[in-house]
Amino acid sequence: MSAKIIDGKLISKQVLESVAQDFKNLKQKNIVPGLAVVLVGNDPASVLYVEKKQQACKNLGFFSVKISLAENVSEKELLNEIEKLNNDKKIHGILVQLPLPKHVNTEKIIEAISPKKDVDGFTSQNLGKIALGLEKDALVSCTPKGVIKLIESTGTEIKGKNVTVVGKSITVGKPLSLLLLNRNATLTVCDKFTKNLKQKCLNADILISATGKAELITKEMVKPEAVVLDVGTKKIGNKVVGDVVFEDVKEKASFITPVPGGVGPMTVACLMENTLLAAKNSL
Ligand code: GUN
Repeated sequence: MSAKIIDGKLISKQVLESVAQDFKNLKQKNIVPGLAVVLVGNDPASVLYVEKKQQACKNLGFFSVKISLAENVSEKELLNEIEKLNNDKKIHGILVQLPLPKHVNTEKIIEAISPKKDVDGFTSQNLGKIALGLEKDALVSCTPKGVIKLIESTGTEIKGKNVTVVGKSITVGKPLSLLLLNRNATLTVCDKFTKNLKQKCLNADILISATGKAELITKEMVKPEAVVLDVGTKKIGNKVVGDVVFEDVKEKASFITPVPGGVGPMTVACLMENTLLAAKNSL
């Protein structure tokens, strides 16, 4: 039997509707959530992501600014910009689009963001709170938060399940692993050094791949009736594909996310949710 498709577009719309509803209450207190997106260089994928984030702000009526900096911007200049945004009362959320150029120390830049405005949830304070199990006091990274919402939308319980995460990036794999542990998943995290990736994936009741390596996950690696979430995006010619060989794997899984239209829209919706939360927390 063919898997049910997890409709990320539909679920992200529901998240955005709830954000819009909450915003109405905030408006009565004269607060308009403000998001600053910092873009360094002009990598086409990053430019597109930033546009989507700004469009989502516009659709909701949030205030948004884009700070575009040259590829060769110095670390000091970038830190200066972040400091200005940290002190700007109209800005409740700051997002530095990753990846940054190699000459910039990414961790140092992330740590310069005020944790209260860290709508990406990448600072040590927000990640530390999540590691302590204090998710409610933290801003939780957008893509991992979106992945959890998508799993929940299927009615699948995470507790006690074998969950395999492929990829351990700061944007997805690492924070997602913490969220899964908090929900009592039995977790396996794989990276490019993992031996026998196939076996680790085959063991998974819930399989999440976030590597950006097209066609990494084939049907031979998927347990029958598994829930499969594909966080990968790679452009091949004019087509965007995920990590999972969708057409084959959908014949084996119970639920599967498509690419595009799966996890992607959830990231943007969760960013709006975080920006609203940061604005609320500023009161
Ligand atoms: N690049 C890829 N994903 C993300 C993300 O979630 N946040 C930021 N800031 N950059 C990214």
